[in-house]
This record gives sequence, C-alpha cells and structure tokens, in this order.
Amino acid sequence: MKPWILGIETSCDDTSVALVDRAGTVAAIETVSQFEIHQAFGGVYPELASRAHLEAILPTVQKVMDNANVTPDDLEAIGVTRGPGLIGSLLVGLSTAEALSLGWGVPAYGINHLRGHIRSVGLEGGQVDYPAVIMLVSGGHTFVAELTDAWSYRLLGTTRDDSVGESYDKVARMLGLGMPGGPAIDRAAARGTPVLRLPRPMKNEGYEFSFSGLKSSVARHIETHPDVSVDDMSASFVAACMDVLTAKAARALEECKPKSLIIVGGVAASPQLRDAMGKVASDQGVALHLPPIKWATDNAAMIAMAAWDYVERGEKPALVPKPNLRLETP
Ligand code: KG4
Ligand code: ZN
Repeated sequence: MKPWILGIETSCDDTSVALVDRAGTVAAIETVSQFEIHQAFGGVYPELASRAHLEAILPTVQKVMDNANVTPDDLEAIGVTRGPGLIGSLLVGLSTAEALSLGWGVPAYGINHLRGHIRSVGLEGGQVDYPAVIMLVSGGHTFVAELTDAWSYRLLGTTRDDSVGESYDKVARMLGLGMPGGPAIDRAAARGTPVLRLPRPMKNEGYEFSFSGLKSSVARHIETHPDVSVDDMSASFVAACMDVLTAKAARALEECKPKSLIIVGGVAASPQLRDAMGKVASDQGVALHLPPIKWATDNAAMIAMAAWDYVERGEKPALVPKPNLRLETP
C-alpha cells in the first residue's frame, strides 16, 4: 500500500484538504474558512459557499501536497465527502476528486461525513478500546450509537428536529451573540448563572433527542423578558443541553456497558460538554475520548481517516452526492 490518502471535505462552509496515513498521522492540512463571506447573512448562503469552494479547492490541494512534499505517486487513494451536506458544496469536492483521480490514476472514494466524525478519534494515533458508545453532536446532526469496533455500529437514537449545534447557533443569534454561535454561547454561559428553568426535552425517554422546543422556549423567554441577562440565558440554555446530553450518554453506558465513551462533532469543542462528559465517564468507570478541538469541527483529516477503512475493506463507495446521506448508508 502507498503511504497517504488525500482527504477532501467541502460539505458545508469550510474547504479542507489533508494528507493522512493509516496510523492517523496528519502530514499536512489546510482549511479555508468562509466565515467572513457568510457572516452578514447570519447563516451559510449555499450559492456563495459553492463558489468559494470552487475558488479555494485546487490551490488548497496544491498547497497540502507541496507542504508535505507528497506526489500523486505516494497516494493510495483520495477520500472525499459525498454527504450529508449542501449539494453545491458537495459537488465541488466530488468533481475535483473525480478529476484528480482521472488525471493522477489514483482511486477516489465517496465518504460519509458522519463516518468521518466517528473516525476523528483515530487521528494522530488515537487509540480507543472497543466496544464504545459514541455521541455525535454537530451542526447538522445529533445521535448516539454503540460501536462494536471502529467500523460496526448500532444506532440508538437521533434527533427528531434540530441538532444541538443548530440550536446553539439559533440561540446565539436570538441573543445577538453573532457567528460562530457555539463558542460565543460557551463564553457567555461561563460568565452567567443557570437561573432560568428551561425544559429538558425527552431527557427521560430513550435515545431520541428534540431541541426545537428548547430553542422556542428560549425565544419566548426573550420575548417576554427583553431585559434578560444574555449570560444567564446562555448559562441556562447550556445547562439544559448538558442535562439532556449527559442523561442520554449515561443511559447508553448503563445499557451497553462499553469500555469507552466517544464524543465527536463541533459541539464537542464546548468546554461545558467536555467537563460534563468527563464526569459521566468517570462515574461509570469508562475511558472518555474527545478529539482535540481541531478534529471536532469539520476537517478533511477525519474524511481521509474514514477512507482508509474502506480501502482496507475493499469497498469503494461511488462519487455520488447525497445531501441527506444517513449514518446507516455506507
Ligand atoms: O461538526 P461541525 O463543524 O459541522 C457539522 O458537521 O455540522 O459542527 C458545527 C457546529 C456548529 O453548530 C457550531 O456552533 C458548533 O458545532 N460548535 C460549538 C463549538 N464550536 C463549534 N458548539 C459549542 N461550543 C463550541 N466551542
Ligand atoms: Zn460535520
């Protein structure tokens, strides 16, 4: 086998390219943020996102290859996100990967972004003892699953409506904290006190999540109490999210009796969540695996890491975009 996989991730608003070996060593990574382009819109503007990916993608590939001093001959494969994500953004990554694949004679694999998040804990030699319970908390998704190894999982539950990250972003907007919402809420919550009693949707029921009710209840509170302290509101919102997420994680640990608890996705960058999950894991005597913050949010290294699993299994998912791709689909 050749040493490197070139990962390409363009599912949303970051153009990310990385070179990763089988052990998860990241030789080079470049992530071009579109933050400034979308800031004025208060969310990601899809057409502008694909245009920005198009401008950034080839120079970013070139830069990563040059920085690591790697040539196409050193590549085992190209791994590119095929979904879930914005169709225009996915198409830029997929068509670039297809063109490079043809030009270089290197096979290209269409990768499920959610599998990338799952494999983010394997980067830089990260070792996990399986079986494990994994919780993915990102802007697009929220789910909890049982992993028998790095590849095989049983989905326990997902969200019925908004993801946790989405509700962080929406609450941040309501409170005038701007983008990116997650870190802004973290900082405000750290200064505030969780004095407001907000609902804990579905906390006591199985493994499904629902965050839209929590978000609406924050909106109602702001409407009826316009002078509410932003810091206390943030702290109360974060406390409600933590309560629900830790209850589900604890339930999964009790039922599945795994060796490890893995928390991945953008919201895994939240210090409150990192602390709260640390407590859940130590109470139940399991190892906690949290990717460093740079691997928690979207990045191409995790996509390359996931691509290695497919290469090893001899499975080659096609370069077909699937905006609503689910975890259950390879
Ligand atoms: O995994 P990710 O980068 O993209 C998706 O696949 O969705 O997650 C992005 C989400 C956003 O909703 C963002 O607000 C949230 O992760 N996020 C955070 C933090 N950093 C990013 N949420 C809480 N605290 C953070 N520090
Ligand atoms: Zn993601």
